[in-house]
Amino acid sequence: MTGRDNRPPVGGDNKMTTTSSASAVRAYEHLSGGEGRRIYYRAERYKVRDLFRKILPEIEVDKAPFTLHDLSMSGIAVFGDRDMEWNADVGTCVPVDLKLGDTSLFSGSGKVCRVEPTPFGPKVGIQLTTGPLDIAQIVTRHNEISLQRELDVGLTETLDLVDPEYRVVCADVIHLLRQCRVTLTKFEGTNGSSGDDRERIAEALAQCEERVIPRWRDLWHRANELVAPIMEDPEALAATKRFTEAVLTPEFVSGPIWWRSYEKPLGYPGDFGVMNYVYGWRHEGKSAYGKLVHRLGLEVAECIATRMVMMQHTIADLVSNGPAEEPARITNLGCGPAQEAVNYLQVGQLPRPVEFTLIDQDRDALSSTYENLYPDVIRLGGRASVQCIHASFAQLMKAGLLLTDFKPQDLIYSVGMIDYLAPRRAKALAAGLYEQLAPGGMLVIGNMRDTLKGNLWPMEFICDWSLYYRSEQEMLDMVDGLPLTSVEVKPDPTGRVYMLYARKP
Ligand SMILES: C[S@@+](CC[C@H](N)C(=O)[O-])C[C@H]1O[C@@H](n2cnc3c(N)ncnc32)[C@H](O)[C@@H]1O
Repeated sequence: MTGRDNRPPVGGDNKMTTTSSASAVRAYEHLSGGEGRRIYYRAERYKVRDLFRKILPEIEVDKAPFTLHDLSMSGIAVFGDRDMEWNADVGTCVPVDLKLGDTSLFSGSGKVCRVEPTPFGPKVGIQLTTGPLDIAQIVTRHNEISLQRELDVGLTETLDLVDPEYRVVCADVIHLLRQCRVTLTKFEGTNGSSGDDRERIAEALAQCEERVIPRWRDLWHRANELVAPIMEDPEALAATKRFTEAVLTPEFVSGPIWWRSYEKPLGYPGDFGVMNYVYGWRHEGKSAYGKLVHRLGLEVAECIATRMVMMQHTIADLVSNGPAEEPARITNLGCGPAQEAVNYLQVGQLPRPVEFTLIDQDRDALSSTYENLYPDVIRLGGRASVQCIHASFAQLMKAGLLLTDFKPQDLIYSVGMIDYLAPRRAKALAAGLYEQLAPGGMLVIGNMRDTLKGNLWPMEFICDWSLYYRSEQEMLDMVDGLPLTSVEVKPDPTGRVYMLYARKP
């Protein structure tokens, strides 16, 4: 499968409707160009991962290190570190240096066109004023240097910085997975594709899962213990991550949830495709082995489903307990598939009207979510409404517009997004959301928990998916100083996520 395969059809307008004739030939008078800013032609942009795969060139903008996101012959987009304080005015001219190791790939300057704060750090768009970039030449040069580097460094890199005990755990994981692969592949080979054969393979897979999952959990928890001490040691952390990605990640990526989590085909981690794998909880993968490792990934991601169910209960409580004709107003920031809303709206009848506002920076996520919600919105005959807002929270906050167009909300929640924000930004966002609550309204924040039985190792090390894991105190710190009638932090049933519930007087 590829990352784009299960993308939903994209709506043609802001109402997120879909067209069933997307593949039909259209007459000239029906052809349209871009909309909004997209009417301006831009030179083709290439995602940095597509061009350079794993060895990414380093980039300095204005002498500060950034991460390259994409480039075209006329411009680049870069991300700064999420804790970085970099402020250059739009229109400023800055030096730009692209290099790999000691070798320069491009050196010139550009004009800052856009600076947008995001949970991953500031995203900066630069139009090159010296150029154009010869992308083909840069890629060729990059490939030559990468080859040299792999030969010179990669193959001789010492493993001194990687704890030998950790290496043993990785070997044990490989041993476990290889045994399963051999057994399942052999069994698959002796069976055909008839219904009975498929059932036999499914049975073999179920037996394998039953034996493997407890051992997988033990190894994952052991690895968590071993990586905990290196989290504050950048060199050991980088070496251990490189080791894990070289040795273990390839064993996992035939499981679709691992592939998507690692490759990040939409350019950001934890997209709605990953979330949908969890909520779908199906056997996915081309082979029995792929399905097995996918299942191990679901085991890791189970807390995403359990926290979603907690939110569904919170929504149900709110809607059940309120004045009968007054709508319950609910906003979800970083909504992704908003599965809790989808599930909740499947109720036979609503105790009172409900108005959902769903906000996400990913338009495709909103489109797919809206389509999932729409049949129930229609069925509930005007007692439920859903408004989707395609914006990043930073855009909303920066413009001072955060929800100001809306009535005060009874429930505002953000689950699985604030995990990407440094403490200061998380606190500022929590305060901004609090402002939009109605008296007596509740703010709920879900964040991965800092615990030795948590998701750190599989996510950070196997999938290169970085989050802030928070303690109970760090959860409370987000709302410290806000006037509250109650505040509570509860773990989800797996104990791997914390949910913060803060009520406004
Ligand atoms: C890990 S997913 C969680 C989705 C959903 N809350 C859930 O638990 O299923 C994070 C979501 O946050 C969205 N997101 C990331 N950065 C955002 C931003 N700056 N503003 C709004 N949404 C954002 C992503 O597009 C993604 O849908």
